[in-house]
Parts: sequence; structure tokens; C-alpha cells
Amino acid sequence: MKAAVLYKVGEPLVIDELTLDPPKAGEVRVRVAANGACHSDLHVMTGDMRMPLPIVLGHEGAGIVTEVGPGVTSVREGDHVVLSFAPTCGVCSFCTQGYPHLCETRPKTLGTLLDGTTRLHKNGTDVFHFAFTASFAEETVVPESCAIKIRPDVPLDRACFVGCGTMTGIGAAINTARVQPGSSVAVLGCGGVGLNVIQGAALAGARQIIAVDLVPQKLDLAKVFGATHCVNPTQDDPLTAVMDLTGGRGVDYAFEVISTPKTIELAFKMTARRGVCTIVGVSPEGARISLNPNVFTMTEKRLQGSYYGSTRPRIDMPRLLDLYMEGKIKIDELVSRTFPLEGVNEAYDLLRQGSVARSVIKFF
Ligand SMILES: NC(=O)c1ccc[n+]([C@@H]2O[C@H](COP(=O)([O-])OP(=O)(O)OC[C@H]3O[C@@H](n4cnc5c(N)ncnc54)[C@H](O)[C@@H]3O)[C@@H](O)[C@H]2O)c1
Ligand SMILES: [Zn+2]
Ligand SMILES: [Zn+2]
Repeated sequence: MKAAVLYKVGEPLVIDELTLDPPKAGEVRVRVAANGACHSDLHVMTGDMRMPLPIVLGHEGAGIVTEVGPGVTSVREGDHVVLSFAPTCGVCSFCTQGYPHLCETRPKTLGTLLDGTTRLHKNGTDVFHFAFTASFAEETVVPESCAIKIRPDVPLDRACFVGCGTMTGIGAAINTARVQPGSSVAVLGCGGVGLNVIQGAALAGARQIIAVDLVPQKLDLAKVFGATHCVNPTQDDPLTAVMDLTGGRGVDYAFEVISTPKTIELAFKMTARRGVCTIVGVSPEGARISLNPNVFTMTEKRLQGSYYGSTRPRIDMPRLLDLYMEGKIKIDELVSRTFPLEGVNEAYDLLRQGSVARSVIKFF
């Protein structure tokens, strides 16, 4: 089967023929219908996120189950699924507390399935799986808990976004930060994930949602997703602008959805007393932030991270798709371009240039 493989950091992905082993016990084989081009894969391509190579990237996918391994009970052949990149065991301390995205049952190895081996090979050599999903590929094998059954009437080239950007963004606002009705919010970075933080904040009833991005088209889209104010740092100082818009107090909730130390520090600065600043961006390894600890003491501000929108995949993903089908959340507006697998490098060139919110790779 065909897949997009990263052989070397800094080089384009290679569209290659790979072999895929059948699913082992507790695994599911999925024919991938569509996969979105998220920035996290780009972090691997640039070396900001280190992964074993060669690797099949892609972690924002949806498709149809074609085969299940022994013991699989939650899906069967023909089911439509969103691919989750957070395997869950259902019984560990975090799963049972309602935080399955932080499940303790992870292999010690990077780039493998749960048993520490790969199902992907090229001429007998192992090829690694990014994020348990490896869905820039015609087919993939994933742990059962990563194949989330969804209603069959959702177009799969829209459902795939619930596999990362839509879930991560809306979940960061609603599940992690628990944005309150009537509150004020600032979102730094309005790419595929940031636009969904905006959408989540609007869904939660925030009164004021301030979008910050360098690209004017992103700010236009931010308005479509619910932003009430837009700030372009190439024109206005974002800290001054946010302070002016909030009567000098700062926002109740700030979100950093870019991934630079400077923008994390800035997001923290624009957070009000007792407010919460949430880091969603994934920074390059070795990055460090610098904050004055007394600010925590004197203002009771909090700084936290959000992984995968604190998703409970089997509850939140089908729920988001119900909202989409009822016209209550936007996914179509996120998609700027559609490519075949051969267009994956062009999709990432566009993401690098900042000219698209999301592209989708469509297999069928
Ligand atoms: N926490 C998680 O679980 C999780 C999941 C998915 C993605 N992510 C991370 O979230 C981040 C965003 O992902 P994305 O796919 O939306 O990326 P993206 O490239 O689509 O969006 C980034 C946006 O930030 C803007 N930007 C860049 N520098 C800026 C600056 N100095 N000031 C203001 N705006 C600036 C860009 O114009 C762009 O619109 C990435 O780091 C990604 O790895 C995290
Ligand atoms: Zn992602
Ligand atoms: Zn668990």
C-alpha cells in the first residue's frame, strides 16, 4: 500500500510502497479515507519533535474498518472510525479518573504500536508509526482504543479533523480550561487548532474572544469561528491591544497555539489575575520559558498545558460530530485545500507559508 514516509529530517516526504501486517490481538486495520495536515507532523519533519525514522506521519485521520484482530469488541468490519492518537486502557488511574488522554499504558518505545513492534515494513525493514495512527497512508493498523466508532453519515473528509485539530482546539477551551459564559479569552495563533479554540470558547459562551495572528486571512477566518476582536502583531502591540480591550485587566483565559517561548510568555502576561493561561502549542525540544515566580503568588494566575483537548475520545469525538451534523460547529470552513496523497508536500509548504488553515489529503 502507498504511504507518505519521512526518511530524513528536513527532506520532503516520499510516497512509497510499504507492506502492512495484519492486525494482532487488540488491533484494528483501517482503510484511511482522509487525513488532515496538522502542524505536529511538520514538527517531526523539521526535527523539532524527535521520532525514530523512517516513519509514516499523519494523525488526523478517519476511515473504514477492514479487519479486526482477536479480542476486538468495540468495532467491526465496515464501521466508520475517527483515528485517535491517544490509546487508552480504561483501567489505569488516569483513565478511571476521566482523563483517558493521559492513560499510563504507553509503550516505552516511540513510533511503535503498544507491544513495541511495528506493522509497517519496507523490504523487510521496520517503518515506524507516528502517534499510533500513521494515517498518511492508504491503510493503517491501530490499537482498538484508537479506532473511535462514529455515525456513518458524516463525510470522512470532515470527520478526520475531529482526530486532532477540532478536538484539540474545542477541547482545550471546554474540557481543559473550562471557559465560562461571559468571560474574556485571547487566542494566540489562529491556525487549524487555534481557530477551534476560538470556536470552543464561543460554544462555551465567552463574551469577548480576541484573536491574535500575523496573517490577515487567518484573522478573517477567526471572525468566522467566533472571534469578536482581531489583533495583528505586525500592526499593533498585542499586549497593549488586549489590555485596552479588557479595561486594563487582561483576559480570563489566554491560549497559546503557536509554540514559541516568546508567545507563551506573552499569553501569560495578558492573563488577568486569577486567570488561566493554557499552552496548546508543542514547542521544539529544549525550549525554555522564563517567568517571574512572584507573579504567580501575587496574582494567582495559573499556567497549564492542554494535551489533545483533554479528550475522552469515545464521548467527545462522536459528540463533536453530532454538533457538526446539526450545524452547531464548523468544520467545512477549516478546509482550504484538498490533495491526493501525492500532494502532501505541497500541503505542508502551504502550512509553512501560513496561507491555509488546513489542507486535507483525501484517499477516497
Ligand atoms: N496540545 C496538543 O495536543 C496539540 C495537538 C495538535 C497540535 N498542537 C500544536 O499546536 C500548534 C498549532 O498547530 P496548528 O496545526 O494550528 O498550526 P498552524 O501552523 O496551522 O497555526 C499556527 C498559527 O500561528 C500563527 N503565528 C505564527 N507565529 C506567530 C506569532 N509570532 N504571533 C501570532 N501568530 C503567529 C501562524 O500564522 C498560524 O496561523 C502546533 O505547535 C502544533 O504542534 C498541539
Ligand atoms: Zn495534530
Ligand atoms: Zn489507562
